[in-house]
Amino acid sequence: MDAFEAITKRRSVRSYLEDPIPRSVLERILEAGRLAPSAMNLQPWHFIVVTDKEKQRALSTGRFARFLSEAPVVIVGCGNERLSPKWYAIDTAIALQNMVIAATNEGLGSCWIGSFDEMEVKKLLKVPEGYRVIAMLALGYPREGKDLIGKIISKVRAKKRLNEIVSAEEFGISLNIKNDSTQQP
Ligand SMILES: Cc1cc2nc3c(=O)[nH]c(=O)nc-3n(C[C@H](O)[C@H](O)[C@H](O)COP(=O)(O)O)c2cc1C
Repeated sequence: MDAFEAITKRRSVRSYLEDPIPRSVLERILEAGRLAPSAMNLQPWHFIVVTDKEKQRALSTGRFARFLSEAPVVIVGCGNERLSPKWYAIDTAIALQNMVIAATNEGLGSCWIGSFDEMEVKKLLKVPEGYRVIAMLALGYPREGKDLIGKIISKVRAKKRLNEIVSAEEFGISLNIKNDSTQQP
């Protein structure tokens, strides 16, 4: 699978098989995060791999995170705001998205999770002062046909077309993309 194929194939997956993620696969995914670009190469990130079901249940109390404890692996992305005050969140997000793409390449489903109480997560996982919890990723082999939330969201809010989100030279001047939105939804 090339990078473009992985990007186009990826969809948020919110239901997973119980099959564990092999250690070698997990390590490749983490490696994809490690190699991400960051401002001044400061790498202001730390990733906590959570497989313990009790901890996962405690992480899944957010309104849109109920499915989290079904995932064999949850990765909690933390950013060091003292090390890189301006870019810690963006850098950590880039590393997490690298992991998402690597996970797709491994045949895994994934979902970003922003629905959590940061203070609760910090306490539960003993995240030190100076770090913020940026987002979590749920990872697991997809259970087909169970992702109702995904279906509803993509129905009510489809991906925007390129001509809606790209300008030429100045904001609002159309680049006139002829073959727009081949990648629906
Ligand atoms: C920063 C961020 C936070 C998100 N938080 C949640 C979440 O808490 N729960 C959830 O079910 N999906 C969450 N999502 C997934 C989005 O709903 C999903 O990416 C969007 O609907 C587009 O669908 P797609 O990922 O299948 O293309 C989040 C995505 C991002 C990027």
